[in-house]
Amino acid sequence: MRRGVLIFIIVNLLIITFLVRNVFTLLSLLVEDASADAIHRADIPSPVSSLLETRPQIIPKIIHQTYINESIPAHWVEPQQSCINLHPDYEYMLWTNEKSREFIATEYPWFLETYDGYKYPIQRADSIRYFVLAYYGGTYIDLDDGCQRRLDPLLSYPAWVRRTKPTGISNDAMGAIPQHPFFLRVVESLQSYDKHWFLPYITVMYSTGPLFLSVVWKEYMREGNFDRVRILMPDEYNRFSWSFFTHHTGNSWHGADAQLIFWVCYTTIH
Ligand SMILES: *[C@@H]1O[C@H](CO)[C@@H](O)[C@H](O)[C@H]1NC(C)=O
Repeated sequence: MRRGVLIFIIVNLLIITFLVRNVFTLLSLLVEDASADAIHRADIPSPVSSLLETRPQIIPKIIHQTYINESIPAHWVEPQQSCINLHPDYEYMLWTNEKSREFIATEYPWFLETYDGYKYPIQRADSIRYFVLAYYGGTYIDLDDGCQRRLDPLLSYPAWVRRTKPTGISNDAMGAIPQHPFFLRVVESLQSYDKHWFLPYITVMYSTGPLFLSVVWKEYMREGNFDRVRILMPDEYNRFSWSFFTHHTGNSWHGADAQLIFWVCYTTIH
């Protein structure tokens, strides 16, 4: 066999191995129902319960949100205020573009080049939330999610994210203790996922967005990590009056159509 042919075959095998590994993770996400890690409904007291919270609250009482600057658009002021008003004893941190960049430059200088290099602003908004959770811990909430009840019961889990249908997890509401191994892994994975796909939507979803987070989550679980990430299921997320959040429209990037994009990703990457 000629050397050129051999190299050709080896390169192709490498590419195929890479693709199979990625596609396998994506497909395995489809059958992951997360029930093993679901936050049990029975563990969440009713919002009007007079029972004292007896479980230790380990996630710091900090609410993180992100926006371009301090001028929050009118349609997001109400959901923003609903979270602030319910949690007067929580620290509130609004991560503006300026504050976010400063934070990355100071605390994670190795990431600054990637951060500045992102083509779409939403990639910076996505990535900063993982870094502040890894660093400070607390609860991140998208500006278009309002709060219906206090977050306290969720502070008992070392880390939680929310389940999305039909598959995967989202990055619009999530909480963690500082330096949780999952979020450390997430921030350390960002650089290797900083790739361009042929559609902006896929690029964003798979480089920093919910698809990226879902894939890292799936790999993290496959390695049998002891520090599991608990999952807030859709009913507890925003379906009922006793759920934690309410959804406000206002063109959040990873909104309802994000689910459609999940499916587009599966078909195109496959
Ligand atoms: C904040 O950002 C918005 C959107 O880019 C812009 O319209 C507004 O002027 C900015 N406000 C301030 C105070 O810079």
